[in-house]
Amino acid sequence: MSKEIIAICPGSFDPVTYGHLDIITRASNMFGKVIVIVAGNLSKNCSFSPEERVEMIKKCIPNLDNVEVVHYSGLLADYAAEVGATAIIKGLRAMSDFEYEFQMALTNKKLNPNVETLFLTTKAENMYLSSSMVKQIALMGGDISSFVPEVIKQDIIDRIKK
Ligand code: PNS
Repeated sequence: MSKEIIAICPGSFDPVTYGHLDIITRASNMFGKVIVIVAGNLSKNCSFSPEERVEMIKKCIPNLDNVEVVHYSGLLADYAAEVGATAIIKGLRAMSDFEYEFQMALTNKKLNPNVETLFLTTKAENMYLSSSMVKQIALMGGDISSFVPEVIKQDIIDRIKK
């Protein structure tokens, strides 16, 4: 992949999990610059504020020098145009993700023809990992250590149990 390309890695990240972090890390190895965007999703009621989500992601990736983490509440296609990003990187888990991701990829292409959506296949162990599952386990007092890094574990427990 070209190190000249600016890629964006959008999501709700409510909260970020090992699944997201794997995709972000792999993207950072492929592109010159990766901008992780904590974006708005109208169909989700998030548990963490955008600022909290940005901070949690930053805490998890202190060594990824070419990765920036931002919050953006507008259209992804517009953000890509603003910063000159030409790739949107998304992780694909089970087939159940496909329909939704395909729809977003086609919409973003229509809104900004200069941007390509690229899918990275999730690692097998993250196939069924989701932020909502992490929140549910935390709420019921379960151990979330295998799903999120230690450095944000307590932040998640504190917020979910409030
Ligand atoms: O982690 P998610 O919730 O599946 O990510 C979805 C997200 C945030 C990437 C998507 O809702 C999005 O792109 N939101 C920004 C607004 C936008 O551009 N909407 C049109 C995309 S089709």
